[in-house]
Amino acid sequence: MWKGRFHEETAPIVQQFTESVSYDWRLYRVDIQGSVAHAAALAKAGLLSQEERQLIETELKAIEREITEGRFEFKVGLEDIHMNIESALTARIGPAGAKLHTARSRNDQIALDLRLYLRNETDAIRVLLADLQRALVQLAGGYPDAILPGYTHLQRAQPVLFGHHLLAYVELLERDRERLGDCRKRINHMPLGSGAIAGSTIQLDRRFIAELLGFPEVTDNSMDAVSDRDFVAEFLFALSLIGIYLSRLSEDFVLFATAEFGLIKLSDAYTTGSSLMPQKKNPDVCELARGKSGRLIGNLMSLLVTLKGLPMTYNRDLQEDKEPVFDSIDQIKLALEVYAGMVAATEVDSRRMRNAAGDPGLLATDLADYLVLHDVPFRQAHEIIGKLVAYSLEQNRGFDQMSLEEFRQFSSNFGPDVFEVLNLDRAIDSRTGIGAPSRKNVAAAIEAWNAILREDP
Ligand code: ARG
Repeated sequence: MWKGRFHEETAPIVQQFTESVSYDWRLYRVDIQGSVAHAAALAKAGLLSQEERQLIETELKAIEREITEGRFEFKVGLEDIHMNIESALTARIGPAGAKLHTARSRNDQIALDLRLYLRNETDAIRVLLADLQRALVQLAGGYPDAILPGYTHLQRAQPVLFGHHLLAYVELLERDRERLGDCRKRINHMPLGSGAIAGSTIQLDRRFIAELLGFPEVTDNSMDAVSDRDFVAEFLFALSLIGIYLSRLSEDFVLFATAEFGLIKLSDAYTTGSSLMPQKKNPDVCELARGKSGRLIGNLMSLLVTLKGLPMTYNRDLQEDKEPVFDSIDQIKLALEVYAGMVAATEVDSRRMRNAAGDPGLLATDLADYLVLHDVPFRQAHEIIGKLVAYSLEQNRGFDQMSLEEFRQFSSNFGPDVFEVLNLDRAIDSRTGIGAPSRKNVAAAIEAWNAILREDP
């Protein structure tokens, strides 16, 4: 492609070192989509005849089919996907093919391809996020009475509904979905026409190209356009955060599925056995999801470090953005899909949850609240209940096994209605504030999520 200026062939080791077609072949579809639009703009500017434009489009579509069907022969010597396609096109249709690269550089071409590619993947990942959200909402809806201890510092804290716990994840996955939607706005700028660095002396209608490709905006500054990869960094960050959230959910599921907790049962289809220990049923899906978050973060770091030292404008270092971004896409899509299946197949042991939540210590704060409602300042109430907890531990008896007289030894503000506070269902259902886990609130939240996820897949 650049033979004019050179007297010698590129050394084979250099070809091997600089090629990217072994992985950027994945861009073939968007590369062809971009070239078809570019050809239309060239024709509009009178630089291609309508026949030439049509010939280019037809042959590019044929090449696309061949690649899809695995019949296309990629050549490493042609470096990347752009030159592989262009060279095949020219070999087939001659002069018209040789005109396609007019007023275009691989620098604006790769920027366009990446934007088209990430725009599609953003949409696909948002759909997968919604699928996982739906699975979580459905699991929450299946167990409306499952009360379990909520944990802070991984110590039993206060009773919550398991549905509330699951909906917490639905909430953060919603922010992931929003974040990708927001990132999509910055992906959605059309860079073609920026050339190698300084546009072109040949004027193409950039807005026309943008329209053909469904971009609401064209990029403003050609130097920025060929070297900007912040939309890739943002995208990789969004994927890393999804990975981190799956990792946290995994941590909960691994813990809850242990014999010690025994709060959920993972399905056989989503667990693996041990080659040695016949009794084992291992939560490998959760563990791998947790493990892969490291890899996703690594991919983000790799790009950030690549970008850090780059002078304006395009530098070949930027080619190193592809493998991390492809890897993160593959991993997150697989993880989201397997997770949706695993959640849907998970069983909940509401009886064990309720048993664990029966630990009367969980209602210590509720007792302090009771005293506050009976005219004791909170700090004082906190201390009184603290002493009561110590007494209960010494006695090895829960609050529910104490008499009113015993309660009154700690404060004369306790009355016979104190025992109502110790009722678990009542304790949950009196948490009625916005965002709190009363059964009514959680049921309403489930309904609201169902509506959101129905409308906005
Ligand atoms: N394979 C290159 C990349 O991924 C395409 C652009 C190459 N441009 C160039 N002037 N060598 O960034």
